[in-house]
Amino acid sequence: MKAIVPTGGRGTRMQPITFSNNKHFIPVANKPLIFYPIETIAATGIKEIAITYNPGWLEIVKSYLDDGSRWGVKFSYVLQEKPLGLANIFQVCEDWLAGEPFLLHLGDNIFADGMKKEVKHFLEEKPDAMVTMVEHPENSRMGVPYFDKKGRLVKYVEKPKNPPHKFAIPGLYFFTKEVFKCFRGKDKIRPSARGELEISAPFQWLIDHHYRVDVVEYKGKWLDPGKFDDWLAANRYLLDRNLTEKKYPQLAKDNVVIEGRVKIGKNCRIKNSHLRGPVSIGDDVLIEDAYIGPYTSIDDHCSIKNSSIENSVLMTEVEVQDVKKPIDASLIGRGTFIQGNYHSNRASFFLGEKTRLII
Ligand code: G1P
Repeated sequence: MKAIVPTGGRGTRMQPITFSNNKHFIPVANKPLIFYPIETIAATGIKEIAITYNPGWLEIVKSYLDDGSRWGVKFSYVLQEKPLGLANIFQVCEDWLAGEPFLLHLGDNIFADGMKKEVKHFLEEKPDAMVTMVEHPENSRMGVPYFDKKGRLVKYVEKPKNPPHKFAIPGLYFFTKEVFKCFRGKDKIRPSARGELEISAPFQWLIDHHYRVDVVEYKGKWLDPGKFDDWLAANRYLLDRNLTEKKYPQLAKDNVVIEGRVKIGKNCRIKNSHLRGPVSIGDDVLIEDAYIGPYTSIDDHCSIKNSSIENSVLMTEVEVQDVKKPIDASLIGRGTFIQGNYHSNRASFFLGEKTRLII
């Protein structure tokens, strides 16, 4: 069995961060988002993974992922010329798949409890295709399964206005080679109104052509950091889940107080500060006269002076100094500079498009 993980898409819901960044590489709990699906796939024993990319992104994607050996897997990079929808992602991988069964795991979904059970079901029960479903309060912005009275899947609708229940289909899809028939012939699937081959279309085609499509409920924790507040929620959940208690006795002499689970990377300089976990700090970070509160991830090369931050994600090279108000619930893009101004009652901004500033 093989796997596919896409890195393309427009990332509109995560603007402005995605004007300069691919959303799959924005950190969650100090790790690029896409590392989570790759770890989950590698843990099932699958060895071959196709990473699809849009034009212009190959070098950047490779710089994060390389050949896959650090996860014990082998990556192949496959070009998706245009963001023509999720069904187009596996369509462009048809040659690479060479007839093998496969799964498609969206690069921005996290199945925090793994998916060994789901892979086992697919391989042992041998349906023609399979999806999982999760209970979700906002399922009208997702794919939704519709069942008949006998519990058989009869319809798969993308973002329905009035879903009949609270279940949704998250970004994990299993297929056999039968699915490629949906791209051929007179009744082949067509792009939706927004010009994309939706993921629901091949499933609907398989259902309508009497193939067996299984639906299994995913009972573990599923995270979907697709928009700002969900990103912070995923960061909180994963910091809480993954950090363990560590001691840093050498920092006490620099007047550093550490409470709870805090991870500190290499070459950090920390003085006169209070760190209250769960907090994850990357390498080469400078923290002086600061308070870093729960659920904060600080990436490499950041500097925080005379300020306080909690429940936030700082990407690399962020500088924060002399900010009077505590910074809370923030996602701060790479290289951002935030300076408080004690001596003046004016504020000065140099902001990019679609920035959100609440002061
Ligand atoms: C996509 C899929 C949708 C699925 C969701 C899961 O939606 O089209 O069916 O439920 O991913 O994250 P998007 O996030 O692109 O709106």
